[in-house]
Amino acid sequence: MTPIIIAPSVLAADLGSVSEEIARVHESGAHWIHLDVMDGVFVPNLTFGADAIKSFRKPQGCVFDAHLMITEPERHIPAFAAAGVDVISVHPEATKHLHYTLKMIRDHGAKVAAALNPATPLEVLDWVWEDLDMVLLMSVNPGWGGQHFIPAVFAKLAELRRRIQERNLNITIQVDGGVNLKTIRQAVQSGATNLVAGSAVFTGKSGVDASRETVVDEYQKNLEALLAEATADQFV
Ligand code: DX5
Ligand code: ZN
Repeated sequence: MTPIIIAPSVLAADLGSVSEEIARVHESGAHWIHLDVMDGVFVPNLTFGADAIKSFRKPQGCVFDAHLMITEPERHIPAFAAAGVDVISVHPEATKHLHYTLKMIRDHGAKVAAALNPATPLEVLDWVWEDLDMVLLMSVNPGWGGQHFIPAVFAKLAELRRRIQERNLNITIQVDGGVNLKTIRQAVQSGATNLVAGSAVFTGKSGVDASRETVVDEYQKNLEALLAEATADQFV
């Protein structure tokens, strides 16, 4: 059975102390760290780029998973790879040359992923299946954290799993957006094994006055609750 991975999205963390937030959530049990890169063009919002990521401290054994919500991602792949990113997701909607872009990620030594908006059909992957390590299905429209999971994406996840199995490929299914205690079980049942969670992990109860221990404890409880819910069916 494929192990379930929860990838906290730092978008919902304290962006003023990203390295510290990464250290805390890693200590709480997360190994994948989801980094949402937004350019203000492909999506209205802006976050951080390769130089900022390069300055984030990466704990040992941590996977930096960069979700590029940027136009013409091919222009920036060498910089993200050099910044220590392990997995790079690009949107087919944002590049005119998907195959070229995916190959470029591979050539720069990172794991290759395609990220699809909720309304983008799976057929966009039809001639690049062999080039992929992961497919990210957006379960909200990209741009912000804290939105509601779009229910149609459950069926899309199941169909994606079917197509991967049919081709006998080893491709991870990641889902991103609105993953919380209410949606995670169905997302896993539908086929996701890698679940991005922003607001469900960094719940913000930890005010400035909270001790480091309290914050780590809060993140750990959130991660454990999500994981328990995600894997509940595996034990029945
Ligand atoms: C949305 C981002 C997500 C976001 C998820 O554009 O791609 O990664 O941070 O946040 P939640 O889990 O709060 O929906
Ligand atoms: Zn994301």
